[in-house]
Amino acid sequence: MYQKLRPLLFALDAERAHGLALAALRLPLPSAPKPDPILAQRLFGLDFASPVGLAAGFDKNGDVIDRVGALGFGFGELGTLTPRPQVGNPRPRIFRLVEDGGIINRLGFNNGGQPAACARLGRRGKPRGLIIGINIGANKDTEDRIADYEEGVRAMSPHCHYLTVNVSSPNTPGLRALQDRGALDALLGRVMAARAEDGPPMLLKIAPDLEPADVDDIAELALQHRIDGLIVTNTTISRPASLRSANAGESGGLSGAPLHDMALGRLRDFRQRLGDRLPLIGAGGIRTAEQAYARIRAGASLIQLYSAMVYEGPYLPARINAGLADLLRRDGFTSISQAVGVNTR
Ligand code: FNR
Repeated sequence: MYQKLRPLLFALDAERAHGLALAALRLPLPSAPKPDPILAQRLFGLDFASPVGLAAGFDKNGDVIDRVGALGFGFGELGTLTPRPQVGNPRPRIFRLVEDGGIINRLGFNNGGQPAACARLGRRGKPRGLIIGINIGANKDTEDRIADYEEGVRAMSPHCHYLTVNVSSPNTPGLRALQDRGALDALLGRVMAARAEDGPPMLLKIAPDLEPADVDDIAELALQHRIDGLIVTNTTISRPASLRSANAGESGGLSGAPLHDMALGRLRDFRQRLGDRLPLIGAGGIRTAEQAYARIRAGASLIQLYSAMVYEGPYLPARINAGLADLLRRDGFTSISQAVGVNTR
């Protein structure tokens, strides 16, 4: 069905097509089968029915979060949400790289702001059976970036099961500098202090464009500040030489297939430095059950995707669930947690 609709959607500007996709998710669509119990996992004190999550950016404001579980996702991450609403960069600002299976976006944290999201989520409550993450960031014109993250922690904690501190978007000038050792030390100190004692688990989302020394610093600080996990990775500012699409020269963050190998490489780097001391969430270019499985075997406890849904349709997570369950059984595992990091042991 989606493969028939795709040419129509692809004839539209990518951001308009995204708006239509959000509207379509409000329709009474059939629910995907419940994830196979072999995929269930307890992490950060939370029960994940599936390791497949919706990455941040698809449902920035939580408009369709109650529909995400029906597609087969075990968790969905809202945001990035900033303390104050902001419009983001001028359009067009999302580009398909069809020949490459990629997307470039330079949205710049367009979002309705945390207070509006709180009101909406408060009215609706947390959907049953789905783990909700909220990804927080800083406003573009803020004076004290770290204060924006502290505000996000305080405002959004009651509305989610976990929080993600996003320091890796390439579309807010200077934001990624918060990954530098000194800045990250200050940021993590302050956000962890802002979290209430019974507050949600705190994840840190990092960029793929890191040198080995950066990976060392981030791994060390994550442990030191007792962060609960890392999301590896956000979009890349690099442009692999293999890109063929006419849109390859657009500025912004690149995601989807061209990011796959780089994101897997970074996941391996972090797993190598951290072992199993810190859960990792793998994101970047995952489009098939085999790729999801490889990421899990490389050390990811959970995975997230976004771009592949643009190419494969909304029920991709349900298909990945089914494929993952088959692959686990084929290799003799009785639970997904047994497969996490087996290639690194
Ligand atoms: C994103 N991503 C993203 N990440 C984030 O932390 N905050 C955000 O607001 C957004 N916004 C966003 C918009 C669009 C259009 C895309 C394609 C992506 C990044 C996303 O969550 C993910 O980390 C990367 O896209 C890599 O995964 P995929 O897309 O290759 O599966």
